[in-house]
Amino acid sequence: MTPYSKQSAAAESGLQQRDLRHLWHPCTQMQDHEWLPLVEVASAKGVWLHDYQGRRYLDAVSSWWVNLFGHSNDHINARIRLQLEQVEHVMMAGCTHAPAVELAEQLVAITPPALERVFYADNGSAAVEVALKMSFHYWLHQGQQRSRFVALSNSYHGETLGALAVGDVGLYRDLYAPLLLQPLIAPAADDFLRPPGMSSEDFVRERFAAMEALLREHAGEVAAVIVEPLVQCAGGMRMYDPLYLRLLRELCDELNVHLIADEIATGFGRTGSMFACEQAAITPDFMCLSKGLTGGYLPLSAVLTTQQVYRAFYADYAALKAFLHSHSYTGNPLACAAALATLELFRERDVLADNRILAQQILAGVEALREHPQVGDVRQRGMITAVEMVADKARRQPYPWQQRRGMRVYQYGLEHEMFLRPLGNVVYMMPPYVINADEIRRMTAVVCDGVNLACRD
Ligand SMILES: Cc1ncc(COP(=O)(O)O)c(C=O)c1O
Repeated sequence: MTPYSKQSAAAESGLQQRDLRHLWHPCTQMQDHEWLPLVEVASAKGVWLHDYQGRRYLDAVSSWWVNLFGHSNDHINARIRLQLEQVEHVMMAGCTHAPAVELAEQLVAITPPALERVFYADNGSAAVEVALKMSFHYWLHQGQQRSRFVALSNSYHGETLGALAVGDVGLYRDLYAPLLLQPLIAPAADDFLRPPGMSSEDFVRERFAAMEALLREHAGEVAAVIVEPLVQCAGGMRMYDPLYLRLLRELCDELNVHLIADEIATGFGRTGSMFACEQAAITPDFMCLSKGLTGGYLPLSAVLTTQQVYRAFYADYAALKAFLHSHSYTGNPLACAAALATLELFRERDVLADNRILAQQILAGVEALREHPQVGDVRQRGMITAVEMVADKARRQPYPWQQRRGMRVYQYGLEHEMFLRPLGNVVYMMPPYVINADEIRRMTAVVCDGVNLACRD
C-alpha cells in the first residue's frame, strides 16, 4: 500500500510546513510527517473535523477519548461564553468560585456513595499523581510508611513520571524505567487472553489468585492498588469482567489497602454506565476523572475521595498534615463551566439508554470481521468497540509491530473521511455520543474495509 501520498502532503497549504518547522507533536515519530499529512483542522462540528481544503473527517476516537457531545456543541459553547463574562480564572488556594463548588456537588452526587471530597487538578496524569500521593500521605498520617503501589499488567495511567511508573505498557514505560518507582504488577484479567473453553468466571478467579498472593505478601508495604476499571484503553482496549473489581474491592478492604479507580478514560458513560465502577457495584477509595469531564473542551481533572481520607489530613496547621499539592490551573472556572454544561446534557435525555442503541449499531457494523482470518477479536463494552488484527488467529499471535498494520488502517481512514487512530494492531471506535446511524454505517464500513486492506500482505 502506498503511504497516504507524499504528493498530497506536499500540496497542503502552508500550515503544515509552518507546523513542522516549530512544533513537536505528542506520541509521534515526527519523521512520519515527511510522508503522512497532518490533518489541518480548520473547524469542527458534531462528529466532524473540517480541513482548509473542504475535506472532512469523522472523529471516530473522540479526540483521544475526550469529546462526548460533539465538537462545538451549542450548549457547552454558550455556558463557556457566559462564564467568560464572569471570571476566566482564579487560583484555588484561598479562593473559591461557583462553578467549582457546583461541579464538586454534582460529582459527589453522581459518583459511587462515600466519595464526598473533590480535589481538582488539570489533566489526567496529574489526577493520578494526586491519588498516588494522597494515598501514600494518608498512610504516613497513620504512622505507616507504605511506598509501594500495585498495578495491573498492560495498564496505562498517564505519562508524567509518577503516573508512568504505575503503568505497564512497555512502549511508553521501558525507556524511562531507571527514573521510575517500581510498582508490583499483577496479571490483568484481560479477556483476550482467556484460553478457549474457559469460563469468564474461572479465568477471572485464576488471574485474581495472583493478585491475592501478591497483595497478601506485600500488604503492609502497599499504599494502593490502581486499576483502569473494565477497559484498559491505551493498552489496546483490552476488557475484563466486573467480577475482578468486586473481588479486588473485597481484598483491599480485608487487607486495608486503598483502591484507586482511574476512570479518566472509562468515566462519563464510555463503558455503558456513567462510571465503570458501577458495573461492579464498588466504591473505590480514590476515583480519578478527566477527559470527558469537560465534554472534551478544556483540561480539568478531579480526584474524588472519602471523608475518612480527608479527615486524616485535617488538623492544626502546626501538625503539618496538609496536602500541599497544587497546579496553577486547578479548578479553572471555564473548564468547570464546560463540565457543568456537560452534566446538564446528561440530564437532558437518557444518554446511556440512547448509547445502548448506538453501541448495538456499531457492533453490528463490524460483526462480520469476527470471521476474518486475520482478526483475533471483536470486542465491545458500552461505547468502546475494538477489532484486534492478528498474524495468527488460532494462537492469537500479534503482527510484528514493525509492520504497522494499524497505521495502514489509519491511512485508509484518512482517505475515506475517517479519523481513526489505531493502537498498534487494535482498531477501535470510541465516537462522540452524538453520532447518528448513517455516520455509524460509514465508520464501521471504513473500519471493515481498512482492516481487510491492512491484513493483505
Ligand atoms: C486511564 C488513563 N489514565 C490517565 C490518562 C492520562 O490522562 P492525560 O492524557 O490527560 O494526562 C489517560 C490518557 O489517555 C488514560 O487513558
